[in-house]
Amino acid sequence: MAVTQKLRDGAWRVVELITTPVVPADYLDVIAPLRNPTVLRARVDAVRSETAKAVTLVLRPGRGWQPHKPGQYVRVGVDVDGVRLWRAYSVSSATGRADGRFTITVNAVENGVVSSYLLNNARKGMLVHLDLPDGDFQLPEKRPAKTLFVTAGSGITPVMGMLRSALHELSDVVVVHSARTAEAVVFGAELRELAAQGRIRLIERHTGTDGRLKPAGLADLVPDLFERETWACGPGDLLDDLQEHWADAGATERLHVERFRTVVLVAGDGGTVTFEKSGLVVESAGGTSILDAGEAAGQLMKSGCRMGICYKCVLPMREGIVRDLRDGTITTASEVDGDKPLIQTCISAAAGPCRLDA
Ligand code: FES
Repeated sequence: MAVTQKLRDGAWRVVELITTPVVPADYLDVIAPLRNPTVLRARVDAVRSETAKAVTLVLRPGRGWQPHKPGQYVRVGVDVDGVRLWRAYSVSSATGRADGRFTITVNAVENGVVSSYLLNNARKGMLVHLDLPDGDFQLPEKRPAKTLFVTAGSGITPVMGMLRSALHELSDVVVVHSARTAEAVVFGAELRELAAQGRIRLIERHTGTDGRLKPAGLADLVPDLFERETWACGPGDLLDDLQEHWADAGATERLHVERFRTVVLVAGDGGTVTFEKSGLVVESAGGTSILDAGEAAGQLMKSGCRMGICYKCVLPMREGIVRDLRDGTITTASEVDGDKPLIQTCISAAAGPCRLDA
């Protein structure tokens, strides 16, 4: 046994000598990208069509993942034409699946680069970047006696995550959902089955024939509207209307809303890099790595290989846009959207103003 271990240690040292200046573990990250907890990624294990314009991706997260709470979203980074784009998607699966996987459901968005890309290109085996689950659109620990969900379009996704996780703990649930047609209802078959079993009261509104849902009409559908703890997710104008309606009824605290997020950033050449914790502000050229620019200005920064392999230099970017010096890939982050991707500072140059969590 001891001889085998010695042989194994010796062989590993030889490999280390060969792979210097980086260590063998760094090459393993390339071969097995889910093993590195510093850079969170997921592999697409399956793609399921939900409607003509929606797909569910079954994701197997890598090391470092922490299970979501029902209703939370996860930021997903996808490389589209050399630009890394981050978008937030609600987790649509139940929490704590035995297989460790979770699902997001992507709906087509008009002019949506990432949603179109995923709808057309997501395949088993594809890798995506991830951030940890976030968001306070959640059910409270103490489950309400009466619950109402008001959703429209893809707004059903976080609610589906809640229903799949916690419906067995809820006793009186009404779901009011709007979609253009019956066929366009994402998770339509599952929702209707829950209704047929008497586990939820489902009210479908098909806007193609019934017109848009107006909060004033909700009381006809759900007479005890304001007795219910309500979660709503959908387009901004619907949520604005609901918030106004609940405020007029003095029931603001009973309504919890989740809004969709968008991001627009344009790549330039160089920019101001702000290290938020130290307060240091550096003008960084487009051809200089943020690691070099920061160190030259006196910022204490972690690093290792300085060639994009070991990930020892990663920092969270709160806001901004950087270019990968190796292949020009653009990564963006928007505080409005809550994006906070980890960037490798040794191979990333500012492509506009950036604010780093360091
Ligand atoms: S990836 Fe090794 S120092 Fe940046």
